[in-house]
Amino acid sequence: MTNKLIAGNWKMNGSLAANAALLQGILPALAGAACEVAVCVPAAYLAQCQTLLAGSSGELGAQDLSAHEAGAYTGEVSAAMLRDFGVRYAIVGHSERRQYHGETDAVVAEKAQRALAAGITPIVCLGETLAERDAGQTEEIVKRQLAAVIHLNGHCISEIVVAYEPVWAIGTGKTATPEQAQAVHAVLRAQLLAASTQAGRIRILYGGSMNPTNVASLLAQPDIDGGLIGGASLKAADFLSIIAAAS
Ligand code: PGA
Repeated sequence: MTNKLIAGNWKMNGSLAANAALLQGILPALAGAACEVAVCVPAAYLAQCQTLLAGSSGELGAQDLSAHEAGAYTGEVSAAMLRDFGVRYAIVGHSERRQYHGETDAVVAEKAQRALAAGITPIVCLGETLAERDAGQTEEIVKRQLAAVIHLNGHCISEIVVAYEPVWAIGTGKTATPEQAQAVHAVLRAQLLAASTQAGRIRILYGGSMNPTNVASLLAQPDIDGGLIGGASLKAADFLSIIAAAS
């Protein structure tokens, strides 16, 4: 198994001053970290964060990318443009994109394909809503979401990162228990292994109210290979505690 990945998802937060302060609080401590660390920043701040991350072991990530290669798609950012700024990871299919921007499983799979073609590792987000969990549909939902990505990207599926993010746990302070998360991660691992003999090395992250208090028990699970961190990635002390727990 490769080392753990801790990825911050800043969402639509930050400013030139706040980003600089946050990264100045995080980057000096990364030298001793035994896990990989990435920050997924708003597109407007890619250039700034590329400069701030230079010379550190921190990786730059984006929060989305276009499903199209280039052309008349006003407001969109292509994989090649992200690549120009040294982007290593791109979140695709975050539940906020699925919910507020109508992204379907097929679009998410296309975005993953665009990222892979540009040499960017997609962090493919999956997860059920509370209503779906209560209806006993968790497994069916996450398998359907992952199947679309495997279908289009089967030949290079071992290059992706998966993030299981139960929608009911995102930004709510409600975390899946380590056992609940592990159960879903094991389902996803089995599905990936059925698609690729290399799938053992795919990192499956947990996301949803991960914080310094719950991180150790989540990362202790056999199929949880890191975290996608929203709120706690905006506070240097909290993010560093999570990184320390993964190291
Ligand atoms: P959260 O967000 O850690 O604030 O719950 C995680 C995410 O949405 O990626």
